[in-house]
Amino acid sequence: MKDEIAAARKGYKYNMLENMKGAIFDLDGVIVDTAKFHYQAWKRLANELGFEFDASHNERLKGVSRMRSLEILLEVGGLSFSEDEKLQLADKKNAWYVEYISAIDESELLEGAKAYMEMLKDRGVKIALGSASKNSPIILNRLSITALFDAIVDGNKTSKAKPDPEVFLIAAQELGLRPEECVVYEDAEAGIEAARAAGMRTVGIGSRDILKDADIVVPGLYELMG
Ligand code: BG6
Ligand code: MG
Repeated sequence: MKDEIAAARKGYKYNMLENMKGAIFDLDGVIVDTAKFHYQAWKRLANELGFEFDASHNERLKGVSRMRSLEILLEVGGLSFSEDEKLQLADKKNAWYVEYISAIDESELLEGAKAYMEMLKDRGVKIALGSASKNSPIILNRLSITALFDAIVDGNKTSKAKPDPEVFLIAAQELGLRPEECVVYEDAEAGIEAARAAGMRTVGIGSRDILKDADIVVPGLYELMG
C-alpha cells in the first residue's frame, strides 16, 4: 500500500496533473462521510422488512441510484414488490437519510477533501461534482462548499445510473472539456466503471480490493496533498 501511495503522489504531481484540466468528484464517500448514513438507512429498511443487510451487501449499493439500490437490496432479501410499493419504500429510506444528514456540518467533510479541491482550483483545474445523489444540494449547502464547483451534476440531472458514464460525460461537457482531460475521484466500483466507460482517468478512494480497476487507489484525498 505504501508503495502505491508514493506512486499515486508521484503520479499526481508529475503525470496526472500535467494534462489534467478537470477534476470530477463523487460526493458520498469521497468528499463527505455520508456513505455511512446511506448504509444506516438501507439497513434500517432491510431490518424492517425482516432481513439482515451487511457491509458487504452495501458495497453493491455505493454509487448506484436510489431506485437501483432498492432493487439490489430487495434482491438480497429475496423480496418483490409492485412499482408503487417500491416508490414508497424508497421514499421511506430517503426520509430517514434526509433526517440523518439534516444536521451535518463541516466536520463530516472527509480529511483533505476541501483542501485538495482548493489546491487544484488554485492550479487552474476546473472542479465538477459527479454524483448519483438527488440530495447533493442539501449536503453541499450544509458543508458550505457549493461555490467550489464550476459544474454540479447529480441525480437531479441524470437519467442513467453509474456504471453508465452519463453523469461524468455531462460533467465534462459542462466544464467544456474532453473526457481525456478529466480525472474522476470515486469510492464505488460502479463509479470507477462509469468513469472508465467515459474515457477518463480514475483515482479510487478506498481499498484496492474493491476498486480493482482504478488507475490509482488511495485511502483518502489527504494522501494526494503536498
Ligand atoms: C450515491 C450513493 O452517491 O447516491 C448511493 O453512493 C446512493 O449509495 C445514491 O444510493 C443516490 O443517492 P440519493 O441521495 O439520491 O438517494
Ligand atoms: Mg460514492
